[in-house]
Amino acid sequence: SKAPVITVDGPGGAGKGTITQMLARTLGWHLLDSGALYRLTALAATRQGVSLDDDHGLVTVAAFLDVAFEPGEEGEPVRVLLEGEDVTGEIRTETCGNNASLVAVKQPVRDALLQRQRDFCKAPGLVADGRDMGTVVFPEAPCKIFLTASAEERARRRFDQLKGSGVDVNMQDLLDEIRARDERDMNRSAAPLKPADDAQVIDSTGLSIQEVFDRCMAAAGQA
Ligand code: C5P
Repeated sequence: SKAPVITVDGPGGAGKGTITQMLARTLGWHLLDSGALYRLTALAATRQGVSLDDDHGLVTVAAFLDVAFEPGEEGEPVRVLLEGEDVTGEIRTETCGNNASLVAVKQPVRDALLQRQRDFCKAPGLVADGRDMGTVVFPEAPCKIFLTASAEERARRRFDQLKGSGVDVNMQDLLDEIRARDERDMNRSAAPLKPADDAQVIDSTGLSIQEVFDRCMAAAGQA
């Protein structure tokens, strides 16, 4: 496909979700939340009784995943449907995120999701959120951003978010989980988390959402 792509990769909690939704809305482009596909694969597998270490079963689940993304109202997150059921909240739990990162280490699962991700690239353009958007899925993308933040800042943001929704959490537990997930995402052999050679690295530590957004728009040549 010839439509332009802006890839936004980076560790969990760096603000990719918020920023990519803002970019897609502002530009009027499509949005790919690739992490949701790994989360949905983990959730669908659990529901179907497929073990998270059954590679063959996971590939089948990933290949036949029946998902839909529906644009949310202004300021609302995109609604995620699994076989027609709204699982927007359910796929955002820490358990689902951790399970996603367990299935994401498997190359056959990644292969099963590859074409589905590329199919999101349609006119007028695509904003792609993930870990390997610039390195593997859209290596030809003209604009690649690697959005990061310190582990402490990411844990603090997650803490505030969970507190705000009434969930009781422990800061140290969150920090430990974030570090463990970073470790797994960066050190796996299949599509490890790292900036593409031609990526522009933006560190969002200490920046407001608006400041990060402005830097991303400038990086995309849209400022
Ligand atoms: O971004 P999100 O937290 O939703 O991703 C969940 C997990 O899915 C990540 O920790 C990572 O292991 C995996 N993932 C991936 N490649 C992507 C997107 C997500 O391996 N492109």
